[in-house]
Amino acid sequence: MNKNIILIGFMGTGKSSLGRRLARRLGYKFVDTDSAIEEITGKTVEQIFRKDGEIRFRSEEKLLVRKLSGQSGLVVATGGGMVLEQENVDLLKQNGVLICLRAEPEVILKRVKNKKRRPLLSRGDLLENIIKLTKERESAYEIADFSVDTSGLTFDEVLNQIRKFLQQEGYIK
Ligand code: S3P
Repeated sequence: MNKNIILIGFMGTGKSSLGRRLARRLGYKFVDTDSAIEEITGKTVEQIFRKDGEIRFRSEEKLLVRKLSGQSGLVVATGGGMVLEQENVDLLKQNGVLICLRAEPEVILKRVKNKKRRPLLSRGDLLENIIKLTKERESAYEIADFSVDTSGLTFDEVLNQIRKFLQQEGYIK
């Protein structure tokens, strides 16, 4: 049984774009948790935050993780707040290897174009918000089995680092 490969990390670190590519290369199924929640609820992430509140979004994340932890052979791109909840971390680790993507705040700033899915960044000064939140979440992302700073790297360079780690540890051939 192939363990799931779980991409964690802050918004704009490339989890979805890299995850899709990684899944294609490994022949795994790709799941983006934000998109899955939008499909399940019939609402956008922005609508859930605005109409139902962040707590509701976090419970949708919990429900989804329970479902995903029973499956294998997935590459999962998680929302940036997924691992703030210990229950999610425990479930994801049960059948998955956790890879954290990182990036410098200035790089994240350039990458976070889709603010609609990122209501947490929509208020106040964007760079200030990014710096504050990345600091607050530093320790949450430390639970990863492997971590890559994507700041100055191309998609291929990041993918190669991830594949090398997965091969070394025997997760993939
Ligand atoms: C969030 C990150 C977003 C999305 C939601 C909350 C967060 O996903 O789940 O806006 O708390 O960091 P991305 O990390 O894919 O942007």
